[in-house]
Amino acid sequence: MKNNFSKRINSLQTSATMEIAARVIELKSNGTDLIDLGVGEPDFPTPEHIKLAAKRALDIDKTKYTLNVGTLELRDAIAKKLYNDNHLEYKSSDIIVSAGAKQSLFNAIQVLINEGDEVIVPIPTYVSYIQMINFAGGKAVIIPTDESTSFKLSPDKLSEHITPKTKMLVLCNPSNPTGAVYSPDELKNLAEVSNEQNIYVVSDEIYEKLIFDDLQIRSIASLDENIKRRTVVVNGFSKSYSMTGWRIGYAAADGEIIKNMAKLQSHSTSNASSISQEAALEALTASQDIVEFMRNKFEIRRDFIYKEINLIPGLSALKPSGAFYLFTNVSQLLNKQFRKHIFKTTSDLILYLLDEARVSTVPGSAFGLENYIRISYAASFDHLEEGVGRIKTAINKLLA
Ligand SMILES: Cc1ncc(COP(=O)(O)O)c(C=O)c1O
Repeated sequence: MKNNFSKRINSLQTSATMEIAARVIELKSNGTDLIDLGVGEPDFPTPEHIKLAAKRALDIDKTKYTLNVGTLELRDAIAKKLYNDNHLEYKSSDIIVSAGAKQSLFNAIQVLINEGDEVIVPIPTYVSYIQMINFAGGKAVIIPTDESTSFKLSPDKLSEHITPKTKMLVLCNPSNPTGAVYSPDELKNLAEVSNEQNIYVVSDEIYEKLIFDDLQIRSIASLDENIKRRTVVVNGFSKSYSMTGWRIGYAAADGEIIKNMAKLQSHSTSNASSISQEAALEALTASQDIVEFMRNKFEIRRDFIYKEINLIPGLSALKPSGAFYLFTNVSQLLNKQFRKHIFKTTSDLILYLLDEARVSTVPGSAFGLENYIRISYAASFDHLEEGVGRIKTAINKLLA
């Protein structure tokens, strides 16, 4: 049948992680005893006081439309958070609340990217940026990074890829899927190039609270007024507060950019859920102890999985500094004849781990880089121990 769908929708590819998530759901519904180390959401329940705030919102009928850009109370709280945590001064009119950070990313890219504009995307990276750029008619200029720079973009590589058509750089800091965190100096060097070349930066900081080893994280926008003017800071509640299903994220930027993002959002989803906004307000204004509690658990798991995975023959991984993923090099297991198996791609290996170990992970190709798998440690310690044990057994079986 002739494809009658728009050029825009045909430019999109289905999210590979979503496909695997669907397969995992199918296996689980068949009763398969599966250890899910594939998904990108904290295993913790949403904290009790946040759930109570949502219940309160229902009881007092905060169930109507809010301002399209989000309630003033929530945007004021976000402005305060950005000032206190990130040394960033924004007015509430420089902030928009969306249905997840994803919607803020989508809006920012739609608002700033014209047909043919080039957007620099260091890979491996979060699956959706490239599709969002395609949807806007832009061209994603992919810059591969590797272990030698801990998967971080260098200012030289950035400069090399800038052309007169370059409009934007997308940075994910801390990174999904590598857990890399840029140091303030590294950010300063990237900001200098961006300033010189007058390009926008979309800075996805959704894993900002999940950093380890007492690292201090900076937002690139906080380095100077010039870079701040051209940066859209994106953040949200999904990861830090274990609120993935509540769909609340936000963007902070120059007021004119936000005004245009609001225009777009007003014709698509209007405001984010009023109840979720009340819950997010509570998340920001109450004690932050629970965030530290969860961060600390992630650090303990990071230490465990980093050590254990590196002990398995054929697997190796750099120590992640943030987020909750171990980006694991599996190149030694590819294109090699084992007794019964040969894995031509990481997806073949992922399927082997699904069938043999009943452990789900995500192929690096879903983030733009073959030869790696992403193992999420957003799972309980018991699950992690069991999952790692199963992976070890399955790999040892290959090598036996
Ligand atoms: C890097 C990154 N940005 C954005 C998102 C989307 O977050 P949200 O749930 O707020 O839409 C995710 C979710 O996995 C992510 O990993």
